[in-house]
Amino acid sequence: DLAHYSHYMQKEIFEQGSAVANTLEERITNNCMLEIETFGEEAVEIFNQVEAVRILACGTSYYAGMVARIWLESMGIPCEAEIASEFRYRNPVVPDNALVVAISQSGETADTLAALNQASKLGYKYSLAICNSPFSQMTRVTDLVLHTRAGPEISVASTKAFTTQLVSLLLLMIALAKRRGMTVDEEAEIVSELRALPSRIEALLQMDKDIAELSDYFADKEHTLFLGRGTHYPIALEGALKLKEISYIHADAYPAGELKHGPLALIDAKTPTIAVAPNNHLLAKLKANIQEVRARGGKLFVFSDSGTPIKSDELIEVIEVVKSGPFTSPIIHTIALQLLAYHVAVTKGNDVDNPRNLAKSVTVE
Ligand code: F6R
Repeated sequence: DLAHYSHYMQKEIFEQGSAVANTLEERITNNCMLEIETFGEEAVEIFNQVEAVRILACGTSYYAGMVARIWLESMGIPCEAEIASEFRYRNPVVPDNALVVAISQSGETADTLAALNQASKLGYKYSLAICNSPFSQMTRVTDLVLHTRAGPEISVASTKAFTTQLVSLLLLMIALAKRRGMTVDEEAEIVSELRALPSRIEALLQMDKDIAELSDYFADKEHTLFLGRGTHYPIALEGALKLKEISYIHADAYPAGELKHGPLALIDAKTPTIAVAPNNHLLAKLKANIQEVRARGGKLFVFSDSGTPIKSDELIEVIEVVKSGPFTSPIIHTIALQLLAYHVAVTKGNDVDNPRNLAKSVTVE
């Protein structure tokens, strides 16, 4: 039932405020995360033992894992994130007391299921599925399950599943970080950021018209480059994946520091760059990268946090997104890029919900 929306993707983008609120319901209080309500009673003993984490997933779900890896590391938890189809054919060294975390919207992705199987054969001790489909295969094979509660996702391009995965991964981060000295004040800080998230998402969605206006510029382009740093590099990857899969415009994403090592050669007047530029400790670095692109005559669309000192000019168009905290900023920036991809695909007249050659659930290798 599409109600007043034109496509499922649009509907699912606009449902993200309530999807995130559902993900959090009865799992947080005013200032803390409720571990048993979130992960189940069995989780307490398992989390007490966990010394390292390995995240496995495909596509968009893998990008959620890449963000989480940075979060977990920043809390002193060794973590690696890997593409399931690569992991399943390798024999990596298994750390002691390691938790394998599979992330999947469908819970039926063949490579992710096979990677979980490989992980248990290799000796990973504990497993957790972060999954949106409550009765899927994946939820039956892991020790623990965290249901993302995004509701059914119909459009092939993943949107609300991704943002609720990130929220779920923040809950996991809190659980593990508390065992490594995270203070009650630090926990309260992150929880209050999470509580503010649904209304910040609603505020971001108000920018829909402004972002739609950019789509004409992109509709006749063949190539685009996305740049980001830190937790927002995976967001650049996700923005590029969304754009390519529904608009069929070639989109590459790079960590901005890699520009000089190759991709700068692609920049010309016909290849726009999209920079994900939150106001954090990496902003000065990213601004230098923006100037590198500008100096080569490349047009830039810079998604910055409102109030960030980056100026628009004839080559740089700054799009100020709603300011949020350090942990939820990747989620806010993602939604802006979802809207961009959506409107470009609509402008091009593409079948937004059913992009060519793709299936919603990839149950074969
Ligand atoms: C992209 C997209 C895919 C999925 C991937 C994994 O928009 O939807 O990249 O993220 O196929 O699917 P799940 O999460 O169901 O394992």
